[in-house]
Amino acid sequence: MTKPAPVRPQTIPETIEVNQFDRMPYLTVLTYPRPDLKQAKSRIKQLVELGIKQVTFEGRTKIGRLGLVGIGTVGLVVNGTGDGDGVYAVKIRRADANRESMAEEFRLTQLANRVRVGAPAFKCTRDVMSMRYIKGVELEDYVRAATGKGSARRIRELAHALLNQCRKLDLIGLDHGQLSNLRKHVIIDGEMPFIIDFESASQNRTAKNVTTAAQYLFVGSRLSPRIKRALSIKSHDQILEALRRYKGDMSDENYVRFLGTFGVTT
Ligand SMILES: Nc1ncnc2c1ncn2[C@@H]1O[C@H](COP(=O)(O)OP(=O)(O)O)[C@@H](O)[C@H]1O
Ligand SMILES: [Mg+2]
Repeated sequence: MTKPAPVRPQTIPETIEVNQFDRMPYLTVLTYPRPDLKQAKSRIKQLVELGIKQVTFEGRTKIGRLGLVGIGTVGLVVNGTGDGDGVYAVKIRRADANRESMAEEFRLTQLANRVRVGAPAFKCTRDVMSMRYIKGVELEDYVRAATGKGSARRIRELAHALLNQCRKLDLIGLDHGQLSNLRKHVIIDGEMPFIIDFESASQNRTAKNVTTAAQYLFVGSRLSPRIKRALSIKSHDQILEALRRYKGDMSDENYVRFLGTFGVTT
């Protein structure tokens, strides 16, 4: 007897009009984790307010048969389109999220946007926020894909670009709060890194973006040995020393000195 072929859960991209969002199974996404018709009506209105006309279920994250861009503890992200031809990332607040609205995340994302950091955030209602959809790869995939000639340069330039963004956030006193896990918080489009998800960001604590991201890149993550090897960094002692100085005094001089420890000359 031949064994039946394994059933692989498959999702086919599906596009709906926003006013169909209160139907099953889409409703399970709109008011995740529990279907709630009343809440759905309100959220459909909010999507309309944001100018979203259609929503497409597509992506690696799955809820039942539906594909999503992603899911976290605060929101679910789906692709949306409006009148123009651009694609939005639409972040929908989870009904069980530990906050009442998306307003603060939106405000802090826009603050980052002012120094050209983060996915540009467009509009926000209580439960929904629209931003630019960043089509790209995770840091780990980018670093793994960089092999052969020019790989050291590519990885160094990416780290430099990412840390410059962290530096900008440090300078405006905005701490992202989750850069200890860059895997989930950076998307790279071509060569351009985008820091995403400002849900844990704050202006009320010391900004540690550079030091936290640098720890991940060069010291303490699953990826750091590979990065160090690619950049021929034998020991991270110098990097740690430069970070300690930077932490004590976040001057341009100390930042530039830190960049030098992984081969960036300015
Ligand atoms: N602007 C965006 N463009 C592309 N993908 C995004 C964007 N924002 C979020 N995502 C994806 O959706 C996932 C969940 O979003 P995130 O903001 O991290 O939610 P949470 O605040 O709940 O953690 C992310 O891990 C990422 O994969
Ligand atoms: Mg998140």
